[in-house]
Amino acid sequence: MPDTTRPTGARHSSSILVTGAAGNLGREVVCRLPAHGARVRSLVRRRTAPCAGVESVVGDLTDPTAVRAALVGVDTVFLIWPLLDSAPAHGLVAELAAAGPRVVYVSSTAVDDEAARQSDPIVQVHADMEALLHDAGLRPTVLRSDTLASNARGWARQLRAGDVVSGPDVARTAVVDERDVADAAVAVLLADHDHLDGGPYVLTGPEVLSRDDQVALLGAAVRRRLRFQALPADQARSRMLADGRPEHLVEALIAASVCRPRTDRITRHVERLTGRPAGTFAQWAVDHAAEFSC
Ligand SMILES: NC(=O)c1ccc[n+]([C@@H]2O[C@H](COP(=O)([O-])OP(=O)(O)OC[C@H]3O[C@@H](n4cnc5c(N)ncnc54)[C@H](OP(=O)(O)O)[C@@H]3O)[C@@H](O)[C@H]2O)c1
Repeated sequence: MPDTTRPTGARHSSSILVTGAAGNLGREVVCRLPAHGARVRSLVRRRTAPCAGVESVVGDLTDPTAVRAALVGVDTVFLIWPLLDSAPAHGLVAELAAAGPRVVYVSSTAVDDEAARQSDPIVQVHADMEALLHDAGLRPTVLRSDTLASNARGWARQLRAGDVVSGPDVARTAVVDERDVADAAVAVLLADHDHLDGGPYVLTGPEVLSRDDQVALLGAAVRRRLRFQALPADQARSRMLADGRPEHLVEALIAASVCRPRTDRITRHVERLTGRPAGTFAQWAVDHAAEFSC
């Protein structure tokens, strides 16, 4: 387990590549780094300008040539692997092993180190990615994140149309604000490697929440009486497809809703890394209320 001290010895001359940089978590990470003096490059599928001071390289994570180009001159990689299969990662991992940067990998709190197989396909991908990176000799620093608060954005379409969020129920977890995960990631990315033990750092929010709890807290933030309606798998599948989620993701989310065990685990690793406690989902909801307005 990580020690209880904050990483020190920030390496302001770092040149950092961030993957998944247009996504909910990646965007938060990539936009924080320039203020710390790091040179920052993002690997994105579409030309975007996530924020000032960030160079963008357009390419796909599954394309080793694009990855090789993106790695030139980079000493640290913040690796988001958002695919639901680890098989296409072999090329990426080979490029990383050849270039030899420090790697910080975003994984899941649901990874069970004792299990031969993980509870569902999403968790299995993260366990497989951790193993691939270790086996390639990259000695990654692993950040295992709990459910990101930003997943609630997937409810926005329903909440613009009514007061009910319907979907698959999932086990209660300590939902974590993606801004806290980003702050923790920045602390790790800028720390002197000698001050880190590789983790895994287990990043959770301060309270365990059900879907009912989250939707009610969102309702308090938008001053509406909102409720969650749990759907059986077949109806949940149709609902998520209607919300515009890709089919392979929908199947993985259904599997997670059926198989992922409940956990009451809350850690203080966000605080260890950032020096302040993790924020609440209630605060996330207040800060993002406008996204759920009609
Ligand atoms: N969400 C959670 O609750 C949670 C919990 C634990 C761990 N995690 C992990 O944390 C990571 C980030 O999650 P998130 O919620 O921020 O994800 P997200 O919002 O879906 O963002 C994923 C990003 O990856 C990009 N991407 C997808 N396929 C790609 C490819 N083949 N090549 C290059 N880029 C690609 C997407 O690009 P486009 O913008 O072009 O689509 C998007 O910007 C994921 O690996 C996830 O498994 C998430």
